[in-house]
Amino acid sequence: MLALLLCGVSLALPSFVGADSCKNVSMQNEAPSAGQPFAFNCTYPPLTSGKVHVTWYKYPSRIPISKNTQSRIHQEQNWILFLPLTQEDSGIYQCVINSTNTCHRIHVNLTVLRKYWCDISGNGQLILSDEYKQILHAGRDDSLTCHLNFPQSCVLDSITWYKDCKEIKEGRFIRWGIKLSVSNVSAEDGGNYACQARLTHTGKHYTVLNSITVRITETNGYAGRIPKIIYPKNNSIEVQLGSALTVDCNITDTRDNTNLRCWRVNNTLVDDYYNESKRIREGSESHIPFQKHIFYTVNITFLEVKMEDYGHPFICHAGVSAAYFILKLPAPDVRAYLIGGLLALVGAAVSVMYIYNIFKIDIVLWYRSACHSPGTKEDGKLYDAYVLYPKPQGEIQSHDVDTLVLKILPEVLERQCGYKLFIFGRDEFPGQAVANVIDENIKLCRRLIIILVPESLSFDLLKNMSEEQIAVYNALVQDGMKVILIELEKVKDYTAMPESIQYIKQKHGAIQWSGDITEQSQCAKTKFWKKVRYHMPPKRLPPSSSAQLLKHTS
Ligand SMILES: *[C@@H]1O[C@H](CO)[C@@H](O)[C@H](O)[C@H]1NC(C)=O
Ligand SMILES: *[C@@H]1O[C@H](CO)[C@@H](O)[C@H](O)[C@H]1NC(C)=O
Ligand SMILES: *[C@@H]1O[C@H](CO)[C@@H](O)[C@H](O)[C@H]1NC(C)=O
Ligand SMILES: *[C@@H]1O[C@H](CO)[C@@H](O)[C@H](O)[C@H]1NC(C)=O
Ligand SMILES: *[C@@H]1O[C@H](CO)[C@@H](O)[C@H](O)[C@H]1NC(C)=O
Ligand SMILES: *[C@@H]1O[C@H](CO)[C@@H](O)[C@H](O)[C@H]1NC(C)=O
Ligand SMILES: *[C@@H]1O[C@H](CO)[C@@H](O)[C@H](O)[C@H]1NC(C)=O
Ligand SMILES: *[C@@H]1O[C@H](CO)[C@@H](O)[C@H](O)[C@H]1NC(C)=O
Ligand SMILES: *[C@@H]1O[C@H](CO)[C@@H](O)[C@H](O)[C@H]1NC(C)=O
Ligand SMILES: *[C@@H]1O[C@H](CO)[C@@H](O)[C@H](O)[C@H]1NC(C)=O
Repeated sequence: MLALLLCGVSLALPSFVGADSCKNVSMQNEAPSAGQPFAFNCTYPPLTSGKVHVTWYKYPSRIPISKNTQSRIHQEQNWILFLPLTQEDSGIYQCVINSTNTCHRIHVNLTVLRKYWCDISGNGQLILSDEYKQILHAGRDDSLTCHLNFPQSCVLDSITWYKDCKEIKEGRFIRWGIKLSVSNVSAEDGGNYACQARLTHTGKHYTVLNSITVRITETNGYAGRIPKIIYPKNNSIEVQLGSALTVDCNITDTRDNTNLRCWRVNNTLVDDYYNESKRIREGSESHIPFQKHIFYTVNITFLEVKMEDYGHPFICHAGVSAAYFILKLPAPDVRAYLIGGLLALVGAAVSVMYIYNIFKIDIVLWYRSACHSPGTKEDGKLYDAYVLYPKPQGEIQSHDVDTLVLKILPEVLERQCGYKLFIFGRDEFPGQAVANVIDENIKLCRRLIIILVPESLSFDLLKNMSEEQIAVYNALVQDGMKVILIELEKVKDYTAMPESIQYIKQKHGAIQWSGDITEQSQCAKTKFWKKVRYHMPPKRLPPSSSAQLLKHTS
């Protein structure tokens, strides 16, 4: 007996202690009508915001309400659901919110009423759910809300609105989700409204009917109540055809406003206008409350921008305020074209320069032969070039230089090309003082050709050229006469050369002899000779040489 008693006590104690340790936090009164669905959410922030365990009881029973969705009264998540409510359901319901170390209890005093409303379906009077009071502001666009508080498992649709027992036809009234928008509210809009919705739960249909008593208030302080649309600003938006786009409508409005916010196109709600394709949708509204106003955002989303969207205003409405945006095709990027054009021009210029550099010599030579101007200006010069060359000591080099200077140069430049050269050792008159010969004749020349011998002898250049010669070419260099350097073999190191030669080499380069030095006939059309001819002055008409020669020698 004792053992049994102890056992019973020990079983009863925890539940008794657990129940009693819960703190009563609130008592709410609900007066819904019988015959239709009713739901109550056990919510008591912040207690119910975390990970909590909610259990519904009907006082004084300690047996939790069933969680079987098929039973007429059951619990779903935090909700207690009556499908439908009956008169016998009146009573106190307790919702116990149990988290790891706290326990709270909320009481709901449910009084089920029988309220009748006018006959709208012809099937006798309807029973009304509890009453809601709402306000419409005269002279403005305003809206009513159908309060349908049910868990997500309940699908609500086919909302119909009634006023004074008559179904509301669209016109100044527009049905919009759970809202009814009323434009240009007047005093006659006050009265008894009802909203009816179909509720579907686990395949069963129910009807919910809410009555709403609407009072009209005159709005005098009108200005402060106009919602402000921050964006859009009647602006245009550039967007590519076929791309997706989301545009926010940002609004600030007073705290107590009842304004309806929505997007419209062609004076139709976008969700209705695109009810079939659903290509353009309005997002659900979000709001941030501030001390004196509320900031609302409702976006419009284009899954894909189509041609027909361009040029038409998409209007965001907030009560009496409206602002739109218009889509525009992006302007072709002028800058890109400009840059492209410039690049093409630069590219063309570069390739022309490149081609010119490759064929420069041929072009110039061709031009000279093609546009041979007979009336070339007389410049008082007698020779086309003065040939300056070292006298190397090595026999082979000495022979090579002599062959080049005395045989090949005259053969090609004089005989084939018609130039006139002054070659020391060939053209001076016997008996003339060396210095005089150079000094006088060099002034009569248009170019100075300097023959350079290979490295092994290069340091001898100075030594082997008479001092006069060096003085002369220095003067020439300073005088600006064009100098043609001809390397008999590749000169690798110019540092041993006089500075003036180094300078010329750096500025104009040197022409390198290729092949053997033989007395065989040379052709003026080879690469080497073309380069030399390129640097030579344009060929003149064979001078009336005898006369000039006479003049000179006299
Ligand atoms: C909470 O309310 C219930 C029912 O009204 C009551 O029986 C219980 O004593 C109350 N508990 C506390 C701790 O107030
Ligand atoms: C119901 O209550 C829970 C817990 O407080 C809350 O998270 C949920 O948002 C509520 N549901 C509705 C529709 O208010
Ligand atoms: C609350 O939860 C604790 C542990 O999570 C459990 O021991 C206790 O019985 C619960 N109380 C109620 C009233 O559900
Ligand atoms: C519940 O509400 C009814 C009607 O409003 C009231 O008569 C009754 O006293 C209330 N019960 C409690 C326990 O408050
Ligand atoms: C609003 O209604 C009043 C009469 O109720 C009318 O005079 C006025 O023109 C209407 N305004 C608009 C914008 O329709
Ligand atoms: C609109 O408001 C949202 C914040 O809700 C912000 O992120 C967005 O940038 C705003 N858009 C415009 C166009 O001002
Ligand atoms: C879309 O709206 C038109 C006109 O309001 C209506 O005829 C059509 O049935 C609607 N389509 C859908 C899928 O709701
Ligand atoms: C548009 O609004 C919806 C809410 O209705 C939100 O989920 C979505 O992220 C918003 N889109 C953008 C791009 O902000
Ligand atoms: C609005 O209607 C006009 C003709 O009534 C039509 O051309 C236009 O495409 C429509 N606007 C949109 C965005 O569909
Ligand atoms: C934008 O256009 C609407 C008409 O659609 C007008 O009422 C509003 O004043 C305009 N807003 C601005 C900033 O121009």
